[in-house]
Amino acid sequence: MTEQNTTGGNNAGQYQAGGNRTGHGKREQNKALWLAKRSAPFEAGPAQVTAPAANEVVVRVRAVAVNPIDSLHGVQFLAVVPWLQFPAVVGSDVAGEVVEVGSGVTRLKPGDRVLGHAVGIEKSHNRAAEGAFQHYTVLLEHLVSAIPGTLSYEQASVLPLTLSTAATGLFQQDHLGLALPVADPPERSETVLVWGGSTSVGSNAIQLARNAGYRVVTTASPHNFDYVKSLGAAEAVDYHSSTAVDELVERIGTSPLAGALAIGRRSLAPSVAIAAKVPGRKRVTSAQPERVVRLRSPRARRPGVHVSGIWGGTLKDNEVGPAIYAGFLPGALASGAYRAAPEAVVVGEGLEAIPDAIRQLRSGVSAKKLVVTL
Ligand SMILES: NC(=O)c1ccc[n+]([C@@H]2O[C@H](COP(=O)([O-])OP(=O)(O)OC[C@H]3O[C@@H](n4cnc5c(N)ncnc54)[C@H](OP(=O)(O)O)[C@@H]3O)[C@@H](O)[C@H]2O)c1
Repeated sequence: MTEQNTTGGNNAGQYQAGGNRTGHGKREQNKALWLAKRSAPFEAGPAQVTAPAANEVVVRVRAVAVNPIDSLHGVQFLAVVPWLQFPAVVGSDVAGEVVEVGSGVTRLKPGDRVLGHAVGIEKSHNRAAEGAFQHYTVLLEHLVSAIPGTLSYEQASVLPLTLSTAATGLFQQDHLGLALPVADPPERSETVLVWGGSTSVGSNAIQLARNAGYRVVTTASPHNFDYVKSLGAAEAVDYHSSTAVDELVERIGTSPLAGALAIGRRSLAPSVAIAAKVPGRKRVTSAQPERVVRLRSPRARRPGVHVSGIWGGTLKDNEVGPAIYAGFLPGALASGAYRAAPEAVVVGEGLEAIPDAIRQLRSGVSAKKLVVTL
């Protein structure tokens, strides 16, 4: 990585902060997994450590998980994150320890063990300093949760992006607008349909909806039925079945639908069909961004059913982000009301192992999250 590349564009705003020293008082250099341009391969190289703004924290990253969005290449960047400025550091899922906090941060302090959603690829941030795939990253304080001592960094790193995506879909007013999760939720009579409960997004959606008091009906392959039920689903149906829609309508029964979250390929049309048939709210939100939903699934729509597409980073700009990361998750992880799921599978150590983790993710996982330690 050339000096010119590491200091270009918005990413030129990085500067050397004073607080990041090892226990022996030696400054540890930051190192990042860079993408020099849209079609370039990942390349590990030096990076500066950026001081936190008032509402930010700097975290020494100990584990990262990989997501489909990390595997974008070439023109795919133009379709999904056209604004992304290169050289870029991507990655969203971080667990590690806080090393420095901004002047406005009172909830966290250096030494805290945390997980956090890194938002470097978000349009309003677009900053390499905030990507996950580096040793020191900058996180928004309100997208960071303290984790209990019993939870490993590896397991904690499975949560952030897919937790944010599920929370955005379930709780943002422009999507399902459901009641937020709390420590002792009232048992509600309404059902939430989570199509794709064994995905990472689905694993979070089931738990969030349950912790908000809703009954959950979901889909998964039969070998994952016990898994999704262990997360709180009342019913599970095999999405491969030709009768899946009818089975789900029957399992939802007379409990009014609070809304449906459609996750996975070809999940929107059946979810919309179910919402049209059962009593309750006719709202379906897809785990695909709105632009993708509009392009790929125009025929999935039906009159009378409201359809929306999620962008998992939008909760940083509204009440849902702090409600989940500051208000709900730390206590729920500590009490056991919320599990860091799915299971982390550590596939390597060091930034150089991340490209291979992304390659493995492309071949598919089932109720697992691929993790690299740093
Ligand atoms: N909009 C956003 O901001 C955002 C953010 C993150 C993810 N996403 C999207 O959300 C989706 C899920 O991502 P993820 O990381 O959670 O996935 P994942 O954990 O990698 O998903 C793996 C699981 O997908 C399930 N699956 C495969 N095909 C399915 C289908 N047609 N219907 C239902 N389930 C299916 C499999 O379940 P079984 O093994 O039980 O068959 C498997 O367990 C992806 O499309 C991803 O691009 C969107």
